[in-house]
Amino acid sequence: MDLASLTPRAHEIIAALEGRLPEKTLRHTLSVAEWSVEVCRRVPAFANAVEQCLLAGLLHDFCKAVRPDELLLQAAYYGIEVSNAQRDKPMLLHGPIAAHEARSRFGIDDDAIFEAIYFHTTGFPNMGVVGQILYLCDFSEPLRPYPEAHEARGLLDQHGFAPALRFAAQNKLGHVLRKSLPDPLTEAFVHWLG
Ligand SMILES: [Fe+2]
Ligand SMILES: [Fe+2]
Repeated sequence: MDLASLTPRAHEIIAALEGRLPEKTLRHTLSVAEWSVEVCRRVPAFANAVEQCLLAGLLHDFCKAVRPDELLLQAAYYGIEVSNAQRDKPMLLHGPIAAHEARSRFGIDDDAIFEAIYFHTTGFPNMGVVGQILYLCDFSEPLRPYPEAHEARGLLDQHGFAPALRFAAQNKLGHVLRKSLPDPLTEAFVHWLG
């Protein structure tokens, strides 16, 4: 897919990603971006969200390879209120900090993109369309190795966006519950989706 034809920022952002992400995360990132363009093309209501979803997809894991101590420093720099769970597992901050980096480093001043990146691991009630698309695509991009990604793509094809997103969110909550206590936002998001 020629991402540069969809946003003039593609080359610059991909070059920045190449300089800081491990190969696997880079491939995942590009796959999320391409898959979200594809989803926007399949759902008529999302036709105008292509560029926003592409930018959100490209930048959502911009901070995935940042060290935990550095994530905590950046959270302080950006004035992010750090929860106990985030202090325990600073990797949970990779979304919030990437949202701030998209704004400050790349000048992407769009609240829908900011929100989508910030909450891409948890979701939250009333999340906007760009955030919903990123959430589904992060879960279900074609390089994801787990069978539920394939299942979510099948649901999208057969039943549409809402059932696919619900499936993704419920699945992610189930996965988190097997390991630890979920973020309250994750639970609230699933509840909101119904
Ligand atoms: Fe992420
Ligand atoms: Fe991701």
